[in-house]
Order: sequence, then structure tokens, then C-alpha cells
Amino acid sequence: MTTAMVSPCEAAFDSRRKAATSYCRMALPPADITSSDFKAGAYGYYAKLRAEAPVHGLRLPSGQTAWLVSRYDDVAPLLKDARLAKDRHNAAGSRPFSRLPGMLGFMQALEPPARGRADRDGVPVGCGWPRDDGNLIGNGALTLLQFPEQLERLRADSRLDGTAVEELLRFHSPIEVSTERYAREPIEIAGVTIPSGALVYGLISSANRDETQFDDPDRLDLGRERNRHLAFGQGIHYCLGAPLARLEGQIALRRLLERMPLSTVIIGITALGLSLLIRSLQS
Ligand code: HEM
Repeated sequence: MTTAMVSPCEAAFDSRRKAATSYCRMALPPADITSSDFKAGAYGYYAKLRAEAPVHGLRLPSGQTAWLVSRYDDVAPLLKDARLAKDRHNAAGSRPFSRLPGMLGFMQALEPPARGRADRDGVPVGCGWPRDDGNLIGNGALTLLQFPEQLERLRADSRLDGTAVEELLRFHSPIEVSTERYAREPIEIAGVTIPSGALVYGLISSANRDETQFDDPDRLDLGRERNRHLAFGQGIHYCLGAPLARLEGQIALRRLLERMPLSTVIIGITALGLSLLIRSLQS
């Protein structure tokens, strides 16, 4: 157990020593979740978090403490929880919103009431992550290569295009971690109180591998029927590009399967992951 792993929890639970002990004193090795290397073994780490510390305070290399929420049943409500602000200035409670939307502002940073006005007034919507549809195709193609029997299943049956894209979104979610959120007030999740003003991340990729929500979650099943993954978020911040990304994913993967052996496409991958938030291929 390292100081870095324990101290954020202890600071937050100073007056609640029992809760801090049960959720934070665990045998997790220290992890730099912001590094590309972390992505390769991330799912094992997330499984430990879900089992032992579903709400976990972790110090980032920047020195900031991030609260990681890892279980599906906690991440899904968190993504639409109005007690969490997308803009950290809103968490302080001094202003209802701190930036006017425009070309330089992302829609995803807006919240009601500013968000309602932006929608109504037709404010230009910034594309949050223009590369994520590409990451769906890249991650998806690599996943198919890793599961050749599923690749052949999809190649043989185009009726699976829809469920296949949903499963690929679940299995390696292009947005690994939600965008930043800040607690406007102390918030209790799974028995842990996250302090006011704290940085909170919903671990989308962890929720999408949660065994309580998905049967055999580490198995790729391109025909999976009950698949309520969180890859596009939830609530008012639900991805505006989701229909486009789904369509692009279905068309691109089908074309790849029809026109070329996938292995010729996936040459030169050296690493996974660009940042804390994004899972992608790097060449
Ligand atoms: C596979 C591709 C994509 C994935 C997995 C994805 C995922 C997500 C997720 C998880 C969120 C919510 C983040 C949060 O609540 O913290 C989001 C929001 C958003 N996405 Fe996407 N996205 C994709 C493609 C796109 C595309 C192609 C566009 C634009 C054409 C787009 C535009 C947006 C915008 C504007 C938001 C903010 C919505 C809001 O706050 O109202 N996304 N996306």
C-alpha cells in the first residue's frame, strides 16, 4: 500500500474512518491511469476496483486527486447526476455557468440552464471527439483480429452488423473514462462520500465489463442481445454523434470485411491509448 493510494481517501474520510478503511485500504498496486501502458492491463485493474473499491480516490501524476467510480450501477446515474458539474467553476457554486458557448466552447461542458438556452438558440455544437468514430473502427478491427471466430461469424452474416458494433463499443469503449465532473456538494456513492469540489470520473470501460450487468463480460459476443452499454454516455450529455458513429462503424467494418483481409489493415500498431479518456490504436 502506498501513500499515494491511501492519502486521498484518508483526507476525504477523516471523520469517517470506518468507511475510508473499507473502501480504500486495499491491495491494489499503484497505477498511473493516465499512461498509455495502463490501457493494456486496465480491465484487470477495473475488476479489482469494482470488487474492492468501487469509489476510489487516486492521486494523479499532476498531484490532483481523482475519484474513480467503477461499477455499472454507480456509473450510469453518475453520468446524468446534476450534483456533478462538467465545469469545475460551476462546482464552486459561485456562478450558474462560467463560459458562454460558442466556437471555442464545447457543448459537452454546458449544463442547464446554459445548456437549455444553447439548444434552443441553435448555438454551434462542437464535436467533442472527432476521432472517436475512427477509434471505434480501429479498436473494432483489432478486436476482430484477436477473436478470429467472431470475425468469421460477422463476415458470414451481415445481419449481425448492428449488434456487432454495439458489442465492439462495449468491449473496447473508445471513450474509456467519462469527461471530468466536479462535485457541487458532498455526494455519497456506494457508501463513500466524495467531498465537495472533488474531481470525479466515471469509468465507462469498467462499467461496460461489469459482471452484474453483462453475462460473461470479458467474452466478445457479436450477437449479444442484452447490451445496455454506456459507451455513448447517459442523460443530457449523451453523445450527439452516436447515430453517426454507429452508422459509420457498421458501414466501415462491413467494407473492411468485404474488401480485404483485416490483417493487411492492422500493420504497424505499436501501442494502445492516447490519454486517460481515450482508447485508440497508435502506429
Ligand atoms: C464511436 C464514436 C464516439 C463515442 C464512443 C463517443 C462517446 C461519447 C461519450 C461517452 C460522451 C459523453 C461523455 C460524458 O458524459 O462525459 C459523448 C459526448 C459527446 N459526443 Fe460523442 N462519441 C463518439 C462520436 C462522436 C461524434 C462522431 C461526434 C460528432 C459528430 C460526437 C460528439 C459529441 C458531443 C458534441 C458530445 C457532448 C454532448 C453533450 O454534452 O451534450 N461524438 N460522446
